[in-house]
Amino acid sequence: MKYKNIDISGKKILLLGSHGVLGRQHSKILSQSGCELIIADHPKTDVMKFAKKLGVKGIKIDVLKEKNLIDGVKKSHKLLKGLDAAIFNVAITSEQLKKTKSFFEFEKYPLQLWKKTIDVNLTGAFLFAREVGKIFTKQKHGNLINISSIYGVVAPDHSIYENESFDSFPGYSASKFGLIGFSKWLATKWAKNNIRVNCVSPGGILNGQSQSFINKYIKRVPLKRMGNKNEITGMIIYLVSDSSTYCTGQNFVIDGGLSS
Ligand SMILES: NC(=O)c1ccc[n+]([C@@H]2O[C@H](COP(=O)([O-])OP(=O)(O)OC[C@H]3O[C@@H](n4cnc5c(N)ncnc54)[C@H](O)[C@@H]3O)[C@@H](O)[C@H]2O)c1
Repeated sequence: MKYKNIDISGKKILLLGSHGVLGRQHSKILSQSGCELIIADHPKTDVMKFAKKLGVKGIKIDVLKEKNLIDGVKKSHKLLKGLDAAIFNVAITSEQLKKTKSFFEFEKYPLQLWKKTIDVNLTGAFLFAREVGKIFTKQKHGNLINISSIYGVVAPDHSIYENESFDSFPGYSASKFGLIGFSKWLATKWAKNNIRVNCVSPGGILNGQSQSFINKYIKRVPLKRMGNKNEITGMIIYLVSDSSTYCTGQNFVIDGGLSS
């Protein structure tokens, strides 16, 4: 059989975390793929403007505010008149912490920043799963995709961050490892309800890092380069589609071979 393009036309999809480095890319590609898409992001982003530009609907959701998240998911469900797939692409990342220079020696690491990272990256994923799960369970089908990271699979090589303007941070690894574990728990719990749950774990994506960082990073990568923004969305499309109906409880690592 000749393999054709993966078809997601007509799928009703909610993408939460649509405004970041990868989120914008996922939003653009999904919006051109024939699905019915709602993009959602923090109220401080211009998610509504971006949605308008893409010709899709936008919703403001702050995952730190439980009621806000509950209402946002309900609204998406109402607008889409159903929900086939939900994608959790939200995180506190080093990209964000770079702006406020919020990197610390571990022995002096602020409890508040640790807690905020866990609250957004992990508790946010829990709340999102719980709310979309209400819809999925009722309609007897669903598909949840959580975005973890290569740092939810292996530890960083800390030496590559020396003399750079950003760093790895402990809550990130803890939350990303946790997200994979949580997704596996949920996948086995929900399998009887015809709900699939998978993770996608990208490796480092090119985004204006210094040449010195790139050189250090790619030493550990068999493909000898960082990823490009457009090299992750394909896995999301596959997981949303009916080509992946036997996949659940998995973590799909896209890292140029680093973790191997
Ligand atoms: N870019 C990479 O190199 C890379 C590598 C591995 C994993 N990832 C993962 O991919 C996903 C997307 O990453 P990215 O590079 O686009 O990150 P990013 O920092 O550019 O975007 C993160 C998104 O989360 C949103 N967000 C943060 N706090 C929020 C809150 N309280 N409520 C709602 N939204 C909130 C931001 O507005 C933003 O849209 C993340 O889960 C990240 O950990 C990225």
